[in-house]
Amino acid sequence: MIVAVDGPAASGKGTIARALAAHYGLPHLDTGLLYRAVALTLKRAGGDPESEADAVAATDFPATLLTDPELRTEATGALASRVSAHGGVRAALKARQQAFAGQAGGAVLDGRDIGTVIVPDADAKLYVTASPQVRADRRAREMEQHGLAADREAMIAEIVARDARDMGRDNAPLMQAADADLLDTSDLTIAEAVQKAIALVDARV
Ligand code: C5P
Repeated sequence: MIVAVDGPAASGKGTIARALAAHYGLPHLDTGLLYRAVALTLKRAGGDPESEADAVAATDFPATLLTDPELRTEATGALASRVSAHGGVRAALKARQQAFAGQAGGAVLDGRDIGTVIVPDADAKLYVTASPQVRADRRAREMEQHGLAADREAMIAEIVARDARDMGRDNAPLMQAADADLLDTSDLTIAEAVQKAIALVDARV
C-alpha cells in the first residue's frame, strides 16, 4: 500500500504523513528533507544555486545531515524551493524516492509531486492544505520548538512566495492530482486532521 501526501509548506502534510505511517505500520519519507539537504550542502560549499545544484543532488550526502537543525529553517526551505525547480535536481532525487516507495509492504511519502510524478499509481493520495496565516503560525511555532527565532509577518510573506514558486515552476509544479482527496486543515486540530486522513485513505484501499 502506497500513500502519497502532497501539499504546500506547513499545511500539516508532514504530521499527517507520519501519523498515517504509524497507523498503517508503514515506513515514511519526508521528501522535502532531500531537497533541503541539497540546498544546505550547496550553501555550506558556497556553491551557486542555479549552476551547481544538479551536481550536488547527484552526490550522496551524509545521513547526519538529515538531523541537522539548520535543515529546518525557513531560509533552507526557501533555498530548497529554488534548487528544486531544476530538472537535474528532481531527476537525481526521483530514483531515491521511487526506491523508497517500492519497498515491500509499501510506504507513505510526503512532498509536492508524490501523487503527480513520483508514484502516480499510489493507492491513496491526499492533497493537504491550509490558509497561509495558519501555515505561517504553525511553521513559527515549529521553529520556536527547535530553538529558532520566528517573525510571523515575515513568515506569511515567505510562505506565499514559496507557494508561488512551487506552484509556478515548469518542472513538477505543486498541484492536486486529479485523483487526490483534498484535506483542508485550517480549522482542524491535529487529531481531527489525522482522523479525516485515515478515513479518506480507508475509503481508497
Ligand atoms: O516540504 P518542505 O518545506 O521541507 O520542502 C522544501 C522545498 O523543497 C519545497 O518548497 C519545494 O520547493 C521542494 N520540494 C519539492 N518536491 C518535494 C518536496 C519538496 O519540490 N517532493
